[in-house]
Amino acid sequence: MKEKLNEILMAAKEAIEKAKSRQDAEDLRVRFLGKKGELTAILKSMGSLSAEERPLFGQKANEVRAAIEKALAEKAEMLKKAEQQLRFQAEAVDVTMPAEKQKIGSLHPLNIVLNDMLEIFQSMGFDVVDGPEVETDHYCFEQLNVPADHPARDMQDTFYLTDTLLLRTQTSAAQARTMEVTKPPIRMVCPGRVFRADEVDATHSPVFHQLEGLVVDKGVTMCDLKGVLEQFAHEIYGPETKVKFRPSFFPFTEPSVEVDVTCSECGGKGCRVCKGSGWIEILGAGMVHPNVLRNCGIDPKVYSGFAFGIGLDRLTTTRYKISDIRLLFENDKRFLDEF
Ligand code: PHE
Repeated sequence: MKEKLNEILMAAKEAIEKAKSRQDAEDLRVRFLGKKGELTAILKSMGSLSAEERPLFGQKANEVRAAIEKALAEKAEMLKKAEQQLRFQAEAVDVTMPAEKQKIGSLHPLNIVLNDMLEIFQSMGFDVVDGPEVETDHYCFEQLNVPADHPARDMQDTFYLTDTLLLRTQTSAAQARTMEVTKPPIRMVCPGRVFRADEVDATHSPVFHQLEGLVVDKGVTMCDLKGVLEQFAHEIYGPETKVKFRPSFFPFTEPSVEVDVTCSECGGKGCRVCKGSGWIEILGAGMVHPNVLRNCGIDPKVYSGFAFGIGLDRLTTTRYKISDIRLLFENDKRFLDEF
């Protein structure tokens, strides 16, 4: 029986030595030490031994059990370390690899166009001024010859913060502010965001951008307005660009015009961009209304002036062939990375 115990111990040690995984080790534990295991089986046959032999055998059996348990524990520990080692190798980071490149930001297409515009107007002697986006009814409408009950207010419905504070619907508010504090000669442009209660679609947004222009001096005429706008169109779109003035109406200019330029995409032949007309409307303009000059403390008998408001968004979408104005406002990195 003792020999049988030794055999079990030898067999167990050999098998444990060969175990390749923790599952193998567990299987061996069941095979040798489990309820139906080899050691348990031999212990069950102890009844056939004499009273003197039994304690000796029992002691030996316990030693064998302890030895197998120890061998199993050592093997389990070894296997765990080996598995860990493999995992570490798989997860290893090569610290000598070059780092991922940080993308450098770029100008928003609206800002690229705006910078070009500012450069053109500054080269013609215009100052650049700033105005508040939260504007008073007074500067956005009243001073511009649009009293509270004027029907033209319908065209520029906006977001009111109080009865008299609103999100400006036009950069023209900057005209009134400038004329109030500056003596002519005045030559200024004011770029910025404007707001209107508009449904969003591919060509409309409740937030968009304008660049206002204002010139006031003695003897300023419609010819000066034409000259400045033609010069601007040639520099932005190229010298072959034609400019067309169409009669229009704005309460703060008289006479008023809307200005189209030949489509930069097709050169005036008609295409998808200009919806077949060959022309693209880019701005509203006119001679400053005498009432506006008077409201701002400038004598219309001595001074005259012209004003214009250019839409930046249309200029940007046609220049870069952007099919949907919403792309300008969504800040999608994939879109912005193209500029
Ligand atoms: N403010 C006008 C608009 O938003 C444009 C404009 C500006 C017209 C200056 C005339 C003079 O439609």
